[in-house]
Amino acid sequence: MGSLSDQDKDIDNVILGVSQLADGLPGGNQMSPCQQARLLEACDKLSSRLKNPEQGVAKLDFQWTNTTAVKIAIDMGIFDLATSRAPEDLTVEDIASSAGADPVLVERIMRSLIISGLFSATPRNTYQAHPGAKALSSQGSMQHMVAFIHDITACVSQKLPEFLAKTHYRNPNSCTEGPFQYTFNTTDQFYTWLQKRPGFHASFNGMMKATERMDVRWTDIFPAAARFATFCGPQAAGVLRLVDVAGGTGHNIQDLVNTLPDLQAQFTLQDLPEVVAHWGVRGEAQVEVMAHDIFQPQPVPGAHVYILKRILHNWPDKECRRILGHLRDAMAPHSILLIHDRVFPDGAAGLAQSDVSVDLAMMMLCGSMERSEAQFRTLFASVGLKLVKVWRGQAASQSQDGVVEVVLAEE
Ligand SMILES: C[S@@+](CC[C@H](N)C(=O)[O-])C[C@H]1O[C@@H](n2cnc3c(N)ncnc32)[C@H](O)[C@@H]1O
Repeated sequence: MGSLSDQDKDIDNVILGVSQLADGLPGGNQMSPCQQARLLEACDKLSSRLKNPEQGVAKLDFQWTNTTAVKIAIDMGIFDLATSRAPEDLTVEDIASSAGADPVLVERIMRSLIISGLFSATPRNTYQAHPGAKALSSQGSMQHMVAFIHDITACVSQKLPEFLAKTHYRNPNSCTEGPFQYTFNTTDQFYTWLQKRPGFHASFNGMMKATERMDVRWTDIFPAAARFATFCGPQAAGVLRLVDVAGGTGHNIQDLVNTLPDLQAQFTLQDLPEVVAHWGVRGEAQVEVMAHDIFQPQPVPGAHVYILKRILHNWPDKECRRILGHLRDAMAPHSILLIHDRVFPDGAAGLAQSDVSVDLAMMMLCGSMERSEAQFRTLFASVGLKLVKVWRGQAASQSQDGVVEVVLAEE
């Protein structure tokens, strides 16, 4: 065998270095979010450049089967069993007897979970659970996400090509006649449909709760201390009045309280009744909790700040105009409206996997989309609002998250 070229040696060194780094990094949580994002981006780039075209395309099928295996493992109670045991203690027989399953089937499912990085096989013929397996147990946060993707998003995704062909490849822009309605044979908008199905609604809300931990915090993007000082600093001598519109269970308010614990503020949290029933903000914060429909007039006029986080991307332009119109009517000249969504660039460069996946998920579920700055400007102008600035984080994430600051347009 000939001697290794310099390039072969370099590659061997990279392989060794990456492998050592991976062995020393059980969860990646020790890194700063920025460093983690940059490393993930570099790994994704390397991984896609290394594959030949066929391998790159085949990966799509492989991802699909892995998600299905995770759903089956949740149903079989594999993640719960793993987290109730000492690490490295799980055998095929344990799982088979606990789930009443065929050991051969168990072995096949476990192979996929190993490939997905949820378990590893030990030399003693047992399985060692990794942190992701715990996140998929009933005590973790990710079961709802897998269930929702499997039961809802994947069904719409299967029907999407047929729907788009039938509608002659028009860009979906209806929340009552879109791919979701075509798949589930309904004319209900996505959230209306969920409200009539408490099981799926709970699963969706659980998924939203799970994404809080992965999501970019608006307080990491928007300079709250500096901007809010103008509302409640010494000159204004006031208490900040902030309304989180369709704010889920209150994590955006919690993020602000954690970031500025001494802020004098009166918060209002609004969402659907079933959602705000589970609200929770820790600490001393004054929070008024209110069931409120975003398509009805805003009941808190003249607040300093209104927030819409991950709301406008759920709705086509027509519905966004109604939501924004009610906020415009409630806003005073001093009010600002903060919209936290992805703000896409004009071209395709710079987009992360999560950006494009969420955009297509919005198309499938809500007939809506992620918007560019220009699309936001046009939308606001159509209802008498004006975009002042798009705030971006300091490369804290790979995504295109931005907080758009909006005010009343001058008469
Ligand atoms: C994608 S979630 C975002 C929740 C929250 N803003 C956050 O950042 O986590 C969309 C939210 O809109 C709420 N929602 C949907 N339709 C609504 C309506 N008609 N009125 C009020 N809230 C609504 C949902 O219950 C859900 O909590």
